[in-house]
Amino acid sequence: MDVSTVRALAAPDGQELLRSLPPYDDADVLAVQERLRRAGHPAELTAAALTQQRLRSRATAKFGEFAFDMLFTPDGLEQATRLEVAVAHAHRFSRASLAQVHDLGCGIGADAVTLSSLGVTVRAVDTDPVTAAVADANLRPWPDSRARVGRAEDADFGPDPGRNRVGAWLDPARRTRGVADITGRTRRTFRLEEISPSWEFVQQVAAAVPATGVKLSPGFDHAAIPAGTEAQWTSWTGDVVECAIWWGPLVVNRGRTARVMGPDASPVLVTESMADDVPPVAASMADVGTWLHDVDKAVIRAGLVGAVTRSTEGVESDEGTGYVLTSRDVSLPHTRRYAVREAMPFTVKILRGWLRTHGVTGLTIKKRGIRLDDEQLRRDLQIGTKAGDGDQATVVLTRVAGSPAALIVSPA
Ligand SMILES: C[S@@+](CC[C@H](N)C(=O)[O-])C[C@H]1O[C@@H](n2cnc3c(N)ncnc32)[C@H](O)[C@@H]1O
Repeated sequence: MDVSTVRALAAPDGQELLRSLPPYDDADVLAVQERLRRAGHPAELTAAALTQQRLRSRATAKFGEFAFDMLFTPDGLEQATRLEVAVAHAHRFSRASLAQVHDLGCGIGADAVTLSSLGVTVRAVDTDPVTAAVADANLRPWPDSRARVGRAEDADFGPDPGRNRVGAWLDPARRTRGVADITGRTRRTFRLEEISPSWEFVQQVAAAVPATGVKLSPGFDHAAIPAGTEAQWTSWTGDVVECAIWWGPLVVNRGRTARVMGPDASPVLVTESMADDVPPVAASMADVGTWLHDVDKAVIRAGLVGAVTRSTEGVESDEGTGYVLTSRDVSLPHTRRYAVREAMPFTVKILRGWLRTHGVTGLTIKKRGIRLDDEQLRRDLQIGTKAGDGDQATVVLTRVAGSPAALIVSPA
């Protein structure tokens, strides 16, 4: 897709064409294409419209019904912030009463659109002309907000951005242009030194613009958190989607925080003030207790497992496992709780013996803090090769007090 095709799709005729398309179905593409061609639509526009319909149906996973008012590129969709998380970003800027935000590397504009919808004017740039044109089309409902082709490094924040209520948002690309992975998509990088715009540039922006926020990979190193900022790890349905760093008036809780999000519940916030600095760890198998809490990964990444040990009066099974063991009967919104049925040192022989005695032929295996090949283990245990609906037991393989342990658990 080129820039002129994006503009044609964003124009009233293009919008009309997109609205006329049936829900995307691979099996119908040729027939729909033929019908549109016969109706006199140019071949290139028809193909682009069908691609948009396909991308829109994929994009509903991130944007719900709003996807049908947006344009996408395949890479832009993949890199875009999901709506609920973008709303959380945008709230920080609107709570800080910012009038204008520079979105420096805006992609297809998911963050820019959400900011605009909260009444913040966005000046967005992206180095890729097609992506910038798509973002500009997505910003149409908010005429004061615009996206254009440009380099983040050339941004002009005007005099005294702090006093003039000007902020900056950066979501650096974690993909290396021109380097493809095995799926043919641009390769993803988790290295801070490979992001674009660079981490050095992000920090320069933060020095110039007090209200700056940046979205980084969840693997962001605690040692690199700039002083005085908030580093917030966010998970969506159990997957950690980002670590965002917030400066100045955008800080809500200084230090490390975790935000646990999902479609079925309000977000849960965990802060350093809620947590033991160093979570206590099990001293022996005797500490296993009645319950096992599988701590949300955003909380683990934020180094806040101490919030779970504190509120359950429990212990982490071993340093860094993210499994908290306790005998107190408490449920927490940021852990998945299991009742512990049995605990034993982990060897294939002991576990196989237990499974035989209890007639278990189907097993769900959860593991953390222990390295092994699931499929090999299933063969060694002589049980079904895949997890399935008929599983009669769940085993958690982890370290307890420094040694490999197998805990037979059931969801509670
Ligand atoms: C992760 S995406 C942004 C996604 C966006 N926040 C959203 O939710 O839709 C990063 C974008 O930064 C752009 N980019 C990379 N380096 C840039 C630079 N130096 N200046 C401007 N844009 C840049 C890339 O083209 C890419 O579209």
